[in-house]
Amino acid sequence: MLLETQNLGYTYPSSKREILREINVCFEPGEIVALVGDNGCGKTTLTKLLVGILKPSTGRVCLAGNDITIMSLAEIGRQIAYVFQNPSQQIFCSTVEEEIAYGLKNMGLPQEEIESRTSYYLDYFELSSYRQTFPQSLSQGEKQRLMLAVVLAMHPRYVILDEPTTGLDIYRCKLLGDYLLRIKEDGYGVIFVSHQAKFIETYADKVMRIEDGRVTED
Ligand SMILES: Nc1ncnc2c1ncn2[C@@H]1O[C@H](COP(=O)(O)OP(=O)(O)O)[C@@H](O)[C@H]1O
Ligand SMILES: [Mg+2]
Repeated sequence: MLLETQNLGYTYPSSKREILREINVCFEPGEIVALVGDNGCGKTTLTKLLVGILKPSTGRVCLAGNDITIMSLAEIGRQIAYVFQNPSQQIFCSTVEEEIAYGLKNMGLPQEEIESRTSYYLDYFELSSYRQTFPQSLSQGEKQRLMLAVVLAMHPRYVILDEPTTGLDIYRCKLLGDYLLRIKEDGYGVIFVSHQAKFIETYADKVMRIEDGRVTED
């Protein structure tokens, strides 16, 4: 199920500057793509367009050949998961376990399935001992793992992370990178924004650079 942009362009309503123009890129399942470029070049803007938080000014974003604007944000989110730059903003339940179960309940899954997926992803991200913990009290790295558990439990096709390495020490960067590799091996497409050359070199299969509103592949 390919995620692609067709002549995608974006201008914020409040400004005249076209941040992105005629972007034609394709993301594939089982692949890790790094989005790079200078501060303010449009990396976050592109990720928000890919999940429908922003609507294209020109062109489109397609998933499996269908324009994502025909889908609701919730539907898109189930297929193309997004982990915010600051995962605290995405956390709102009172326990770690509930945080994962919440999205699954909204999908209308049976209770048994909710419980088995919750346990599976708690274990996958080594959060089982935090089942009853108040999520906002977790460390930055743990919150990020929790958000990955929350979104992966919904079995999306793609996972997008905006600057996931910011604020993580070397050890936690490696932990995150190794999780990304595992996610990729499980068949998910991974797209992340980062400035850290070593991290990008170690984990990305492809590097897309945004410059002057356009994307080039390194
Ligand atoms: N809500 C907004 N309204 C107007 N301009 C914005 C808005 N958000 C971001 N921008 C501008 O769009 C450009 C790209 O921003 P962004 O995608 O956040 O860059 P990056 O993530 O690469 O640092 C920047 O020049 C930024 O100032
Ligand atoms: Mg950004």
